Amino acid sequence: MSYTFAMSVASGRPIDSIRDYVAALEARGRLLRIESMDQDQYEITAFAYRLLERFGSEAAPGFLVERVRIDGQWRDGPVLANLYGSWPDEALLFGVAAINDDQHQMYRAVIDTLVGQLDRSGNWPRIPPVVVPAAQAPCKEVVLTGDAIDIERFAWLKNNPGDAGRYINMGSVFMRDPDLGSNVGTYRCQVKGPRKIGVNPEPGQHGWLLLREMQQRGDKIAKVAIAVAPDPMTFCASSTKMAGFKEDELEFVGGLRGSPLPVVKCETCDIFVPAQSEFIIEGEIPLDQFEAEGPYGEMYGFQGAAKKENFFMNIKAVTHRRNPWVLNSFTGLTWDMPKAPQVASNLFLYKRLIPGLTGLYSPAGASGVIVIGIQKRFPGQGISAGQYIAANPALNKVVIVVDDDVDIMDAGAVLKAIGARWQPSASVLIPQTQMMMPDPSRPTPMLSGKFIIDATRQLPQEGGPKSWPAQNRDLLSRGAPGSFDLVDQRWDDYFKNGPGKAG
Ligand SMILES: Cc1cc2nc3c(=O)[nH]c(=O)nc-3n(C[C@H](O)[C@H](O)[C@H](O)COP(=O)(O)O)c2cc1C
Repeated sequence: MSYTFAMSVASGRPIDSIRDYVAALEARGRLLRIESMDQDQYEITAFAYRLLERFGSEAAPGFLVERVRIDGQWRDGPVLANLYGSWPDEALLFGVAAINDDQHQMYRAVIDTLVGQLDRSGNWPRIPPVVVPAAQAPCKEVVLTGDAIDIERFAWLKNNPGDAGRYINMGSVFMRDPDLGSNVGTYRCQVKGPRKIGVNPEPGQHGWLLLREMQQRGDKIAKVAIAVAPDPMTFCASSTKMAGFKEDELEFVGGLRGSPLPVVKCETCDIFVPAQSEFIIEGEIPLDQFEAEGPYGEMYGFQGAAKKENFFMNIKAVTHRRNPWVLNSFTGLTWDMPKAPQVASNLFLYKRLIPGLTGLYSPAGASGVIVIGIQKRFPGQGISAGQYIAANPALNKVVIVVDDDVDIMDAGAVLKAIGARWQPSASVLIPQTQMMMPDPSRPTPMLSGKFIIDATRQLPQEGGPKSWPAQNRDLLSRGAPGSFDLVDQRWDDYFKNGPGKAG
C-alpha cells in the first residue's frame, strides 16, 4: 500500500468537500438554513420527522442549523442533516449533465451514468489517493492534543430521549495495518467523555473483522482515525461495501471522483485521511477491554438494545477546520448516504444473473422491502429472479417482483400490481436465511426469514388465467390515440381559474 506524494492536487470534479456539495444544494434551492434550535427539547429531531412527513423522504430538503442548545449551553454549529435522499441531488453529485426535479428520471440518469463507469466485469475504476502536506489540508487548520482535547464541546446531538447519549453518527472510521490491510466504515460513536468515545462496528462488518484479526494476533490496541464530514464520495465508500475486505476504499473514491483523493497523514499514526474533512478524531481502541454502549434508535426505526460490551476509543488528537461542521444522522428516518453506486453495482451484477431484469428499487423509508422489474417470457422467471435477490444477506426481507410495465419507484403502482396481478400461491417463503440487517422483528441476529412475492402476470403453466384481459388504460390509448395529447395540450387551460374555482 504505497501512496504518491504531491504538493498540490487538481481535481477534475467540482465536488471536493461537503462544503462544495452543500453549496451546490443551496444553489438549487435544496437547503434550508435555520438560525437556532433547542435540542434540549429535541427540537431538531421533531423537526426532521415533520420535514420528512410533510415533504416525503425523497423531496425533503437538507437543513443547516447555525446554533444549537445542548445541555443548557448554546453551541455554535452548524449542524447539518438530511443532505442525501433525493435522486436529483445524487444525480448532481455523480455528474449527471442535466438535472431536473423528476425523481424517476434522475434515478435512471444517475444509475445509467454510474453503470457506464463500471468495466466489463463490473469493477469500479480505481485511482490511488495523493498525499498533501498538512499546510494544504483544511482538516488540520486546528490541531488539538493532550488535555486541550474536549470532544464534548462540539454540537453532537442526542437524537432521542431513549438514546444512551450524544453520538458522532456520521463518522468514517479508518484503520490501516501494514500487514493486515486497511478499511474505512461508517460506525456510530457514542460520546463518553472529553477524550473517550464508543465505536460500533456490528459483528461481520469489515471493520469488525479487521479488529478481530488484530485481537487474534495478540495486539493490545488498534490505532484508528475518524473522519467526520469528509467529501461525499469518501462517505459513500465508507458507508457501502464498494471495496472487498481489506481493499483500499480510497482508490474507489478516486475512481468515482475521476481524480486522486487528497489525503493527509494523521498526527499520531500512519493512517491517511481525506484532507477536506471537517474533523479528524485520532485514537486507540483497546482490544482487550470493552464497555457498555447504547441503547440507540436504529435504522429500522426501532430502539436497538444496549450492548454490554462494545469497542471504545481513547482519543489522542483532534484536528479540525476552523468553525467545523457537524453532520448528524437521524437514524431510521433520514437517508444519510449517497446510494447510487451501490444500486448501480447491484443492477450490473443482477442483470447478469437474472434474464430480463429491468430495474431494482428499495423504497425510501421502507427498510426491508425491495421491488424488482422483469420482462417476463418464461414460466418460473419471476420466482427465480426473486430467489437471486433474496439470497443476498445485505438485501431485503421482502422481495416483490413485478412486470416491466409497472413503475418500480411508484409504491402505489406496486401495491396495485400486488392487488390485481398476484395470487398468494405465487410466493416463496424462505423460513430462515442469512441476513445482516438489524431488522427488529427477527428473533436471532444474522438470520431472518425472507418472502418473495411474484406479482408478475402468471402464465397458464404457472396456474394463471388462460389469457389476461386488457388493461383499461391501454384500451383508452389504443381506442382513442389522441386523447392524452389533447389533455396535455389543454392542461394549463383547465387550471386557469385554480382548483375549486368556477371555470
Ligand atoms: C449514517 C450511517 C451510520 C451507520 N452506522 C453503523 C454502525 O453504527 N455500525 C455498523 O456496523 N454499520 C453502520 N452503518 C453501515 C456501514 O457503514 C456499512 O455497512 C459499511 O459498509 C460498513 O463498512 P465496512 O464494510 O468497511 O465495515 C452506518 C451507515 C450510515 C450511512
